[in-house]
Amino acid sequence: WPHIPVPGHWQLNGWGHPHYTNVRYPFPIDPPRVPSDNPTGTYRRHFVVPQTWADRRLVLRFDGVDSAFEVYLNGAYLGFSKGSRMPAEFDLTSAARVGDNLLAVRVFQWSDGSYLEDQDMWWLSGIFRDVTLLALPQTTLWDVKITPTLDLQGDGSALEVAVVVEGSTTASGAYQLDLALLDAGGAAVAYAAGPVRLGGDGHGRVELATAVGTPRRWSAEEPYLYTLLLTLRDAVGATVCVVPQKVGFRRVEVQGPRLLVNGAAIKLRGVNRHEHDPELGRALTREVMLTDVLLMKQHNINTVRTSHYPPHPYFLDLCDEYGLYVVDEADLECHGLLYAEQPFFLSAAPDWCDAYVDRMQRMVERDKNHPSVIMWSLGNESGFGANHAAMADWCRRFDPSRPIHYEGDRHGEVSDVISQMYTPLHLVAAFGDGTDDVLHGANQQTRIRLEEYHDKPFFLCEYAHAMGNGPGSLNDYWQAFNASDRLIGGCVWEWLDHGIRATTPDGRSYFAYGGDFGDVPNDGNFICDGLLFPDRTPSPGLLEYKKVLEQVAVELLQLGPASVALRVHNRYDFTTLEHLACEWAVTADGAPCAAGTIALPPTSAGTSTLVELPYAHTPTLAGADYVLTLRFTLAHALPWAAAGHEVAFAQFVLPRLGRPDAVESLSPAPRIECHQEGARLHLHNEAFQLSFNLARGVIEAWHVKGQAIVATGPRLTFWRAPIDNEARGGGTQVLQEWHAHMLHLLQQRVANVAWERAGDGVVRVVIDISVAPPSYEAAFDCRYSYTLHGSGDLLLEVEGKPRGTWPAVLPRIGLELTLPGSMDQVTWLGRGPGESYADSYQAARFGLWQAGVDELFTPYVRPQENGNRSATQWVALRDAQGCGLLAVGDPLLNFSAHRYTTADLERAEHGYELVPRPTTTLHLDHRQNGLGSGSCGPGVLPQYQLLTAPFRFLVRLVPLSPESGALDELGRRFRLLSDDGLGKRQREEEP
Ligand code: GAL
Ligand code: MG
Repeated sequence: WPHIPVPGHWQLNGWGHPHYTNVRYPFPIDPPRVPSDNPTGTYRRHFVVPQTWADRRLVLRFDGVDSAFEVYLNGAYLGFSKGSRMPAEFDLTSAARVGDNLLAVRVFQWSDGSYLEDQDMWWLSGIFRDVTLLALPQTTLWDVKITPTLDLQGDGSALEVAVVVEGSTTASGAYQLDLALLDAGGAAVAYAAGPVRLGGDGHGRVELATAVGTPRRWSAEEPYLYTLLLTLRDAVGATVCVVPQKVGFRRVEVQGPRLLVNGAAIKLRGVNRHEHDPELGRALTREVMLTDVLLMKQHNINTVRTSHYPPHPYFLDLCDEYGLYVVDEADLECHGLLYAEQPFFLSAAPDWCDAYVDRMQRMVERDKNHPSVIMWSLGNESGFGANHAAMADWCRRFDPSRPIHYEGDRHGEVSDVISQMYTPLHLVAAFGDGTDDVLHGANQQTRIRLEEYHDKPFFLCEYAHAMGNGPGSLNDYWQAFNASDRLIGGCVWEWLDHGIRATTPDGRSYFAYGGDFGDVPNDGNFICDGLLFPDRTPSPGLLEYKKVLEQVAVELLQLGPASVALRVHNRYDFTTLEHLACEWAVTADGAPCAAGTIALPPTSAGTSTLVELPYAHTPTLAGADYVLTLRFTLAHALPWAAAGHEVAFAQFVLPRLGRPDAVESLSPAPRIECHQEGARLHLHNEAFQLSFNLARGVIEAWHVKGQAIVATGPRLTFWRAPIDNEARGGGTQVLQEWHAHMLHLLQQRVANVAWERAGDGVVRVVIDISVAPPSYEAAFDCRYSYTLHGSGDLLLEVEGKPRGTWPAVLPRIGLELTLPGSMDQVTWLGRGPGESYADSYQAARFGLWQAGVDELFTPYVRPQENGNRSATQWVALRDAQGCGLLAVGDPLLNFSAHRYTTADLERAEHGYELVPRPTTTLHLDHRQNGLGSGSCGPGVLPQYQLLTAPFRFLVRLVPLSPESGALDELGRRFRLLSDDGLGKRQREEEP
């Protein structure tokens, strides 16, 4: 009898191994039979019943055991249960004895219940949630159903409570039940009392009701909770037992195509949450549950779908307390059966109906009193059949106060909302319009008629697959949601990567996914598709989501002579803006010029207010970008974040100073010495030495004051390390096409070279190349035109034209340079501090940023393209002494810098396989393709695709030394120089 922690999974404690499949069952399909070779855990535990419990009723509760189990006490069989994420209780009263007792539990990995538990997650077994021994009075409160009714117009709100009392059959006499409702401060605001009569069988039932006038309401924004105290007294008035319950007054209604909470049409700013911890699997600690709730609140999330099973009950307590709307989902998913060789459709099989309804009843009974639960969900991905109808039917009778959700009910036969997953944006918008006769979802086969959908809200129970780098287009979805009351929002798939912490034989820690445990078959890293990395570090996707969800929006109305007029919109559903402080600042190329705070008028929910900012915009710095930033922060600490926590920000690029008449030209350029030696062209003066390899069409060495600043490059590249959104699901079509055209194998061939001296201090080098796959049927005909100034400043114009057949979309168009690894200090003016891409940049704000190369790396569980910074005016990479390189883009560029090459990133399957190189790989990209959601959903929207077309861009490369002066000044100077260049038009078009 070795020891094992409970709660816990045996696979994470040295017995067996975790196994990941998405849809497939890891055992032969033969319902209801499961393999007789069935891993089984037998647990034993001694416990002591004290003398003081001798006359108690003892109940043993299991909150979750995967997947089926039998319970024995002192050798006597007490019963069995299944339904892994459901509670089960056993009456121990007669089997237990005062003193030592031996509890034995036998847990089976597989049961017929496993067929209904085919969720996309690790298969993990054992007693994974709490086990509690309850010592109750012989006569006791057994169940409480609380029904708060909220009168939205008047003072007719009320509280109804239905209580079940259980006693022994010998319990005699009259009992009384007292009800007291306490407000959050503990003051009683309502009372009721009533007699309880136990029948001969020991059961009694009592219903109490009390008026509560105009209670404070519960919502995710203002989760006000009362405490209900229920006290059972015996015939002489002595207290038998007291049960406290939290109560929230709130009302949920589906009214036509709108979802109303407390009368307001709300949006569900949601995520799908599985229970996962990298060390503990689904055996979560309370701290981890709290972390999830706090992180959700801090990232402007207001809804959690408990995909795809009821969570640990404590999680719902937290949702009540901190304010999150919950779509509580039954522990039921079985679509793996539909893909079996011989498909089974259990959802319509009469002999499975009880099992379906049981899963609904046990969830609803367990969770009925939580104000946070605003919808019941019949489960996930199980087709749609009579058994679902039976679940809905029972639920509606038992709890008419909450709408019912089920995505599989495509035509809304029993569910109150039309729910879909991964629907392309244009179809979502069409549901929002609500005028088309027939619509379908991501699933093209289903046709939903107007009369089926027009009277129901549309909910995206899953969208924006957050696998790896992405998701793209969160902002586009929210623009659509915000444009229509019919669209009630959605839940990003999913909250967290389910990586499991593992260690390589040589001691390096990493996150394991499907296949890393020898688990076959498996679905690889599809298990890592969350907004949080496995250790709960927010990914760039979560930061983007936070920005897109924020509930304060600002419009710049006018720049006046002495002030700026702004309109501040309160996008909350219930709260005023009184809980927020507002700070503003104007910067010129990131340097502060003016700042202050504004007192926000209260501004009720859904309205806006005019604000005057005491700032006169008189730009003085030629070439500088002036940016106004407003930050909205918590004025006081709230339970979920400290004072000062930022809930929203807004930025506006203010008009620049007009171009001065005389732009200072480059300082008189010292003469450049040139000599060609075979294919090598050497250019130098006392400030630098620069060598071109004319045969390869690249710079081969560039030294400034004896210090190497470029090892090799620039070289055009169209390839990036595929992201999961290209390597999985529908996204693979794009990748296959890229591979078919050998975009990953393109080679640069020099076609023609010419150089000339254009004056003493200026040399021009023109290199014509073709970039083509080895087979060379199609090519990009490209030209590098270098202008080297005696100052060392190098202007590079890059042009290219596709010839022959190419894929319509490219991963990237950009330059790659290899720099000495010591140049790892990065400073840039542009969007930051985090990464950004064409369809995911809202969270990246304009500013002057600084980071080490290592900090620019985003550790997606499977390495892939990462770390791009978009809309960059200039970027400098320097070593500790201040020597390095400045790149100024025209138009604005994207850059990324890594200790790895693209090939390194592409080859590695896990982070630990990446070995840092002694060089820095710098990408200066003209453009990159967007991210999309193609790993499980729509690909990159057309407007964010990088289309294959002729291109032209300029990059100025400037050597840096400690004497170069301030970077922002240099950046401005070169920007002015290129104001006549092609970037000018682009900048004028910028919002
Ligand atoms: C959905 C499913 C989720 C998950 C997701 C892909 O179809 O409901 O459970 O598998 O796809 O990550
Ligand atoms: Mg599934």
